[in-house]
Amino acid sequence: MSSNKERWGSRVGLVLAMAGNAVGLGNFLRFPVQAVNNGGGAFIIPYLVSFLVMGIPLLWVEWAMGRFGGKSGNHSTPFILDSMTKAKWFKYFGVFGIWTNLAVAAYYCYIESWTMSYVMHSIGRSFAGLSQLEVANFFTNYLDISTTTTGIPFEAPIFYVLCLLLNTWILSRGLSGGVERTAKIGMPLLILFGMFLAFKGLTLGTSGASPQHPDANAWAGINFLWNPQFDSLTNPKVWLAAAGQIFFTLSVGMGTIHCYAAYVKAKDDIALNAMSAGWMNEFVEVCLGSLIVIPIAAGYLGLDWVKQNAGFGMAFQTMPFLFENWGPFLATLAGVFWFGLLFFAGITSSLAMGTPWMGFMQDEFNWGRERAAWSFGLITLILGLPTVFLYNYGVFNEYDYWAGTVSLVVFALAESVLFAWVFGMDKGWREITEGADMKVPNFYKFIIKWVTPRSEEHTSELQ
Ligand code: ALA
Repeated sequence: MSSNKERWGSRVGLVLAMAGNAVGLGNFLRFPVQAVNNGGGAFIIPYLVSFLVMGIPLLWVEWAMGRFGGKSGNHSTPFILDSMTKAKWFKYFGVFGIWTNLAVAAYYCYIESWTMSYVMHSIGRSFAGLSQLEVANFFTNYLDISTTTTGIPFEAPIFYVLCLLLNTWILSRGLSGGVERTAKIGMPLLILFGMFLAFKGLTLGTSGASPQHPDANAWAGINFLWNPQFDSLTNPKVWLAAAGQIFFTLSVGMGTIHCYAAYVKAKDDIALNAMSAGWMNEFVEVCLGSLIVIPIAAGYLGLDWVKQNAGFGMAFQTMPFLFENWGPFLATLAGVFWFGLLFFAGITSSLAMGTPWMGFMQDEFNWGRERAAWSFGLITLILGLPTVFLYNYGVFNEYDYWAGTVSLVVFALAESVLFAWVFGMDKGWREITEGADMKVPNFYKFIIKWVTPRSEEHTSELQ
């Protein structure tokens, strides 16, 4: 039995931490790019269907599994899964719920560290007076460890280490003293910053058109994302992208939700909490995520440019240049808001990635919180250095593919089968609905048993 007696401090804190776990870089960097590359409005229907048949059920399943495991003192997936079945081998699937997080944290914290540096560069006005190409090159040089053109030698690895130190320190403060407190500060700020930038995206219209880009129109960007097109429904590539985005954005199939939910009290609601955090993520992704990068870029450079150049580097290579159109004060403010928003989105997710490892070490080896946190920092550093030093050789993309895409679906499929078929749907349903502050629609019993596992199987086959 674990001596780990951590608990959430308040319900608001728990929901914000869970929402922070879900709301991440994926909402602002991955979602718009996936949407543009998969036909804009053509992406939205598969995305929403995936949310309804895989996202929502998996949220309930993972919260229920976590709270169930927590009752017997287990706070990480290997032993949460083990507590649900007599079959001894199921716990080995649970190892995915630790390693996936370490591998994702390794490259995820690297992006998070860029946002820290870019807040600093926005305040220092490093982008003032630079051409679009020069701002783009600034980022390329930043990633090229051998150059010092950003003004700070080895800036990328230095900020990476700083970012890991910050994550480790917060984790060492504990669940309510570190993670929950960060979410309570970070989430409201993120939404505030996002609303400011979304307002700019919504009101830009055609005012950013110029002789070089006479067709520039922010509304064209918004229309492109929001005009549903039904012809994509038969395209497996779009379905795969949509399902992948749902997994990544909700952080399902990772092990973080189980871990956070394991610290919920035995009789506390999970049904409504899961929906609050999940829908908050969707609000941030679908409303704020689609109203910033794409409309602002389309508003200055035109929709065709966006379609040809959509990529996750746009956030760093293009946005600081576009903000300069708003004059020195607003450009600085927008830079701080944009990269600050990304930083809060990132850190509230990377902290969640640290907790399964910590829970495991605390439960199984009786390690103290600090030791568990620092060991997470060290392992992430070791795993992450190849992504920093070999970025240009594709290592980063390999991590994202195997840990951030394939592994989530494999683990989600295993846990769905365990929950609905081994643990048993009747018992599982009782776990979801116990203490519930909402009526969980009965048809979800059918969906969790029959539809979710089949959809996950299809998704994994498409990969
Ligand atoms: N759910 C987190 C994100 O979207 C991992 O970035």
